[in-house]
Amino acid sequence: MSDKKKIKPRTRKTSKKIFVDVKDVSKSYTMGEVEVQALRNVSLSFSAGEIVSIVGPSGSGKTTLLNVIGALDYVDSGSISINGKKLSSMKDKELSFLRRDTIGYVFQNFNLLEEINAEKNIEMPLILANLEKEERKKRVEKLLKSVDLLERRSHNPDQLSGGEQQRVAIARALANNPKLLLADEPTGNLDSKTGEKVLQLLIDLSKTHKKTLIYVTHAEISAALADRQIHMSDGSIVKDFQTKK
Ligand SMILES: Nc1ncnc2c1ncn2[C@@H]1O[C@H](COP(=O)(O)OP(=O)(O)OP(=O)(O)O)[C@@H](O)[C@H]1O
Ligand SMILES: [Mg+2]
Repeated sequence: MSDKKKIKPRTRKTSKKIFVDVKDVSKSYTMGEVEVQALRNVSLSFSAGEIVSIVGPSGSGKTTLLNVIGALDYVDSGSISINGKKLSSMKDKELSFLRRDTIGYVFQNFNLLEEINAEKNIEMPLILANLEKEERKKRVEKLLKSVDLLERRSHNPDQLSGGEQQRVAIARALANNPKLLLADEPTGNLDSKTGEKVLQLLIDLSKTHKKTLIYVTHAEISAALADRQIHMSDGSIVKDFQTKK
């Protein structure tokens, strides 16, 4: 045996960098005398660029999980980190920048401003981020194109179909080029055919622009469009697996 020190073979890193880290998170709500435990010691992580679906019965904690990841609600215990930084260590201002610049939200009921048109809805987050008018115009144009709505730009939400409204909402969520997209039942208010198209668009745009996408759905077929599927039940993760393709 040589007295040279054995050199350990370098192990190739196969795991991707963790982007969202949920550690031992619990959250409960109190309604009068009754306490509902919405999340029970949930631990899981998401790597950059992952496309993940969450399914589970009504009341299983899906929305609560998205809300605490998206800094829309606080955890009772445990921690959530985004890009290595704990949400609980951030001040209000930092959290509002995070919500504006790092996270894009898509909701079941679209949440568009009713009194302004599609174009203005998409421009809103850019105004809040203090972008110059010329830059905003260019970006809105690109976003409208990416969701195939150039021709509906002047329509107010009530002059758009459900699928079109959700496409406006997707463009708005992408406006500030966030790294993370959170979508809570984005197809819940759409018929199944339109819903699938809208979800496919959301997934395609997320992949093209290398976003991490986490979406909640009730439809098995929609869940299977993700690369990874998470099942929740009674505040816990009961299954977490890669979609066989
Ligand atoms: N603001 C609140 N106050 C009291 N209880 C709440 C509140 N929000 C959620 N809950 C309770 O927490 C549990 C989890 O709710 P959550 O909204 O996360 O479920 P969900 O999986 O998204 O359900 P759904 O599929 O119906 O949207 C439920 O039992 C719910 O009643
Ligand atoms: Mg919900």
